[in-house]
Parts: sequence; structure tokens; C-alpha cells
Amino acid sequence: MTPSPGDEELPGGERLQKVLARAGIGSRRTCEDLIADGRVRVDGAVVRLGARIDVSRQVVEVDGVPITVDPDLVHYLLNKPAGVVTTASDTHGRPTVIELVPASPRVHPVGRLDLETEGLLLLTNDGALTHRLTHPSFGVEKEYLAEVAGLPSRGALRRLREGVELDDGMTAPAVVSLVSPSVVKLVIHEGRNRQVRRMCEAVGHPVVRLVRTRIGPLRDQHLPPGAWRPLEQDELRALEQAVTSVPNAESIGGAPTATTAAETGAETDPDGTPSDS
Ligand code: URA
Repeated sequence: MTPSPGDEELPGGERLQKVLARAGIGSRRTCEDLIADGRVRVDGAVVRLGARIDVSRQVVEVDGVPITVDPDLVHYLLNKPAGVVTTASDTHGRPTVIELVPASPRVHPVGRLDLETEGLLLLTNDGALTHRLTHPSFGVEKEYLAEVAGLPSRGALRRLREGVELDDGMTAPAVVSLVSPSVVKLVIHEGRNRQVRRMCEAVGHPVVRLVRTRIGPLRDQHLPPGAWRPLEQDELRALEQAVTSVPNAESIGGAPTATTAAETGAETDPDGTPSDS
């Protein structure tokens, strides 16, 4: 029988069950069972027990969900403080989010928060995941708490919910609720520039303070401003799952190489950082 691509025994490769176990999929025994049950694919092909892979080059999926298996890939969750820019370097000498996380390996922010916006920001050197997270077709949910001027009426909240006409078009329906008289919770899945600020402004309630409280499945109410932590393995799994269950996911997939967001072709702003997403 001709071996399929994923069956190749790469002399320098690692045993797949070991790689999967290190990635947090389960014990080696569990991972062996997954492979034996045909639930694991490498570069699109179901593999047999005994397969070895090159973690830096090959794409591994379990039950159709791509898994980050390269130990050189890092994923940090940062609580961005106000006054810090979401770029690698700033021509005005302002502090950047890159300065808040380890310098090596080099990471990039996934999406962007405005200078004065606070809250959760993901930074990684995982180009494939960045591509998916910033690709509009995946529409990963982002949750914001916006303290606004004035007291939004039910009508204003309805407009935010149903869609607001901005200069770049109508916004998609959003999940919107009032958490206190002047604090609005918005869950959006678009990534337009300054979108929440512009939406609130459009309904007559400019934002006074904006905090991102969730990115897809990622939350953390205990991370102090300016602090970061690596994603837990189950958080990474959940994030990968969030950017997998979409019809055209396969057409935009790619090997989990360490690339920049700009290289992945994600939407970028003129300064090279991806638009907020
Ligand atoms: N919407 C905004 O207006 N600003 C951000 O930083 C993120 C979303």
C-alpha cells in the first residue's frame, strides 16, 4: 500500500502521539486511541499509529480542528492599559504593547486596540492562527464594556443592536445590553477601525472609557493592567475551535508557521498592524 502523505515516517520527526500529548490533547494513550480511531489528520490525510511528523511544517487536525503543535509558537493574553499603542514601534515614542511581553520569540498583536482602549489583546508568533482570527469570514466575537456620555435610551440601544450607519457602511447586528445607566456591553464580530467608539458616537453617546473583556472564548477578569500570561492549552484549543467551524475555513487554512499578520494577508492598517478584529 502506498503511504499517504501523513503516514510518512520522517526520520527527524516526532511521534504523533507524543506531539499531541504535549499539545494537551490528552495522555499518550488517549492520543494513540485518537490516531487509531482515524480522528487525526496530518496535512489533510488520516494517519496511522506510528506516524512521525515535523511540528514546524505539518498541519495536524483532531476531529477536523487544527491543533497548534509547534512548541516554538507562543500565545500571550495581555491586559492592555490605556496610553499604550498596538504597534511594534511608535514614531512618537509612546509605549507599545510589544514592550509589555517577552522580547523573544518575537510576537505580533492579533488585531488592534486603540491607544486609549484597555483590555484583552492576544499576541503571538502563530501566523496561521492570526490569519484565521483576523479573517472577516470567521467573525470571532469580541465583547466590550463602553462607559458612555449620557444615559442611553432603549431606542439608542436598539439602534446599536440592529445596526448603525457609519461612514463605511452599516454595522452588523450586535448583542447589546446596559450593565449600569451609562455602561453598555457590546458583543460584535466585525473588526472595523474604532468601531465601538463610532457606533456609540453615532447614537449620541460618545465613549468615555472602553475595555475589551472577551475575545471569542478568552476572558480574564484577574489579569492586572499591563500584565500578560500565556494561554492555557484548553484556551488555545477553544480559540482554534472558534476559528474552525466555518464553511470556508479550509480555503484559508495554512501551516502554523511563525509569520507576521501582514504576511498572512490579514486586513491591515496603514501602519502595518491588523485592523481591530
Ligand atoms: N472598537 C473601538 O472603537 N476601539 C477599539 O480599540 C476596539 C474596538
